[in-house]
Amino acid sequence: MAFASTGWTAVISLSGAILGLFIYRVCLHPLSSIPGPLSAKLSGSWRNTRYWRGTWHNDIVDVHKRYGPVVRIAPNEVSIVDQQAMKTLYGHGSNAAKTQWYATWNPPIGAPAFFAVREKKLHSFLRKRVSGAYTMSAILKYEPRIQACLDLLLRKLQNHAVSGKAVNMSEWTNAFAFDVIGQLAYGSPLGHLDTESDVMELRKNIFNLFFLAANMGHYSGQMKLFTNPLTQSILALCGIKNRIAEFQEWSSNRVQARIDALERNGGSDKDRPDMLAHFLNMKDTKGNRVRTEEVLSEALNLVGAGADTTSIAIRACIHAICSRKIVYNRLQAEIDEYYNENTLTQPITYLQCQNLPYLVAATREAMRLLPSIVYQLLRHAPEAGLTVNDKFIPPGTPVGISPIVQNRDPKIWGDNAQEFWPERWLESEAKSRYLESNNMTFGGSGPRMCVGRNIALVEVHKSVAQLLRHFDMKVDNEDKPWHITSYWFAYQHDFMVQLTPREKYPLMA
Ligand SMILES: *[C@@H]1O[C@H](CO)[C@@H](O)[C@H](O)[C@H]1NC(C)=O
Ligand SMILES: *[C@@H]1O[C@H](CO)[C@@H](O)[C@H](O)[C@H]1NC(C)=O
Repeated sequence: MAFASTGWTAVISLSGAILGLFIYRVCLHPLSSIPGPLSAKLSGSWRNTRYWRGTWHNDIVDVHKRYGPVVRIAPNEVSIVDQQAMKTLYGHGSNAAKTQWYATWNPPIGAPAFFAVREKKLHSFLRKRVSGAYTMSAILKYEPRIQACLDLLLRKLQNHAVSGKAVNMSEWTNAFAFDVIGQLAYGSPLGHLDTESDVMELRKNIFNLFFLAANMGHYSGQMKLFTNPLTQSILALCGIKNRIAEFQEWSSNRVQARIDALERNGGSDKDRPDMLAHFLNMKDTKGNRVRTEEVLSEALNLVGAGADTTSIAIRACIHAICSRKIVYNRLQAEIDEYYNENTLTQPITYLQCQNLPYLVAATREAMRLLPSIVYQLLRHAPEAGLTVNDKFIPPGTPVGISPIVQNRDPKIWGDNAQEFWPERWLESEAKSRYLESNNMTFGGSGPRMCVGRNIALVEVHKSVAQLLRHFDMKVDNEDKPWHITSYWFAYQHDFMVQLTPREKYPLMA
């Protein structure tokens, strides 16, 4: 009897406390005047369940359609879409600090990745010392290596196309992007195309890592739940190998082998135009040669961030272009004309691609509609707070813009914002400059803009141009061409495409 009544007292006081918390969050919280789904105001699980199920690319677009440009998506998080706020949060000068959410991306071994570093001065130092490796002129020095991977991709696709069956472009474009990154980061391809397999299960494991890291950001302890020694030894006892650790070890051996080779050659690395050569020359804050872990971090960064994102962009382009026959025909004609008039005997280069305005417009437009990253890029609202659409967001509040929502804002892109319409980029110089400065495809134009965007641009332009030159493409199941899961990246699965080699234009390598 006494026990039952204490039990009831506990239940009643707990319910009272929860009710009190809910009332506070809905009615009294500093964000209480910001619109949003009721359950999102009550707890973080509205957002978190959508994160776990991988549908965020739809959820975030829908919730803004329903509640407008400022939405409370968790008790203490606001998602916005706004031209001015985009500059305030991400632009040069005044940009706002990243939130704790990003700490989930720190690699378990090695040095902090600059992507996850939240302190601005350190970020700027770490970023500056790698930026030389990522400039367009540096990437163009590596173009022959990228082309070698592309040649192999096209050859493989041709071999598979003869069977008449659709090919799995999710698989092929991803294998291509990983091989390119292997070339750039370690000086040799990883062998995904050559062996037609997921070498070291790298792709699968990176995907799984992103699945966890993207979701765990909002829980306390974040990835430590998985990376702590206790969990790791339990997993090891159960025979579950940590494949990411295995890859880190492999990378570390690669990096060490290069350091040894460098020492044998008296420090000269000139016949190795790749990014590893650049990373090995970096200095630390005191001007000393960097530690091996820091070099390793940069290489891992490149593999983790530079491959999936690029393959997503390539698929977005193929899909969008194939979805409008009129665009497809015009683009293929533009590419053919360029090859024929210039009697190209070598595959088209990135710089030559820049002479094809319709190609540039179509790829921009496809990446606008489906940017690779669809989660909000979370920042703390600046010291003065942030006012968007007459709603005040207090200083320090976690607030962010999702690139997919900004990239479809009708205020910027017009009534046909949801449509694939490359022509919007060709109306006038001024309009195209305006659109360019408002896109979030690469995370905005500020100091945190995607450092690897030039790699992506080179791969995207060249692969789209060469695919259209050498194949006729048709997407299987046009109504449901793929399914997307979003875990920070919006990855398209099961993208099946019919390829027919164009006999008039055989492969060039
Ligand atoms: C396509 O490839 C992926 C691996 O990238 C695989 O998971 C998927 O099942 C494949 N889909 C089809 C329809 O073959
Ligand atoms: C998006 O904007 C950035 C920064 O202004 C620009 O460098 C980039 O080319 C733009 N991307 C597209 C797809 O327009």
